[in-house]
Amino acid sequence: MDNNKGYFLGKNAVVTGAASGVGLALCEELLSQGAGKVVLADINEENLHTHEKRLQLQYLGRIKGVRCDVTKENEVQQMIDEAVEFMDGRFDLLINNAGLGLSGLFTPTQAGEVLKEKLHMRVQTNEDWERAFKINFYGALYGCRAAINVMIPQGGGQVVNIISGIAWSPMAYQSMYAATKAALNMLTLTLRYEYWDEGIKFNSATPGTTLTAIWGEIGPPEGAQTAQESARKVLKGVAENQRLILGDKGDEEGAPHCFDPSIQDGLDSYFLNVARVRRGGKLIV
Ligand SMILES: NC(=O)c1ccc[n+]([C@@H]2O[C@H](COP(=O)([O-])OP(=O)(O)OC[C@H]3O[C@@H](n4cnc5c(N)ncnc54)[C@H](O)[C@@H]3O)[C@@H](O)[C@H]2O)c1
Repeated sequence: MDNNKGYFLGKNAVVTGAASGVGLALCEELLSQGAGKVVLADINEENLHTHEKRLQLQYLGRIKGVRCDVTKENEVQQMIDEAVEFMDGRFDLLINNAGLGLSGLFTPTQAGEVLKEKLHMRVQTNEDWERAFKINFYGALYGCRAAINVMIPQGGGQVVNIISGIAWSPMAYQSMYAATKAALNMLTLTLRYEYWDEGIKFNSATPGTTLTAIWGEIGPPEGAQTAQESARKVLKGVAENQRLILGDKGDEEGAPHCFDPSIQDGLDSYFLNVARVRRGGKLIV
């Protein structure tokens, strides 16, 4: 199914965090919608090779897996260089998707025991915060910079940063995740205007709550959609150059209202309920 009017036909793309979940589904959708060459970048070599081999059977010569730790700028730069070579010089689309979920407590509290036992959460240290920003924020920042340096001379391109509805939905025990994704959202939207006249499109995209490994042993909350559904929603927004691509109903409903002072009471009661249910040991969103 391709409702994107052939937008991705012949386009060459790089997707990070592509060996699993939403990233892998984005690659498969791009290929099925006629993309030219697709580079799968991920730190997990085993998964990367499994999926590269599998996809090569169907899309011979159009796939390349590159091991890359996005927290290291030199590795991101090297991965983009390899990708551009594989693409014979034309780099149309970068999707910075690599990311971690990062739930935990801001400080030790009375809720700690239940959260530890039932939701496997612990108190997050400064090292955890630094690592979180390295992966969820700097990983994408390095990708943006490397892509811009190729895209300006070639006359344009498109960069999509995968954020999350958490960027505006303050869910308790996800302060670290929320902070990294809110920062990435604003980086993306600022670059959208900084590079508009250089022909580079920037989009922020939430996949929506999706059935992937990111939820760990706890598993995803009720109502999560498949990675393919998320990927299709994201790619529709990319094709339409939506400023903020919203991956599911929850994000569509939440995004327009999250900072509206006139509904503060409703927002407080919703997010307080999430906090209290989580404190009781159940993961809801
Ligand atoms: N699943 C959801 O419900 C959901 C909701 C909102 C946003 N997101 C976002 O979607 C993106 C993809 O997540 P997912 O749900 O598919 O999770 P996932 O765990 O299935 O996939 C994440 C991938 O990123 C890779 N990765 C991790 N650290 C890396 C690093 N340093 N360098 C390179 N690759 C690295 C992992 O190996 C993995 O293949 C993330 O940015 C996540 O924050 C997911």
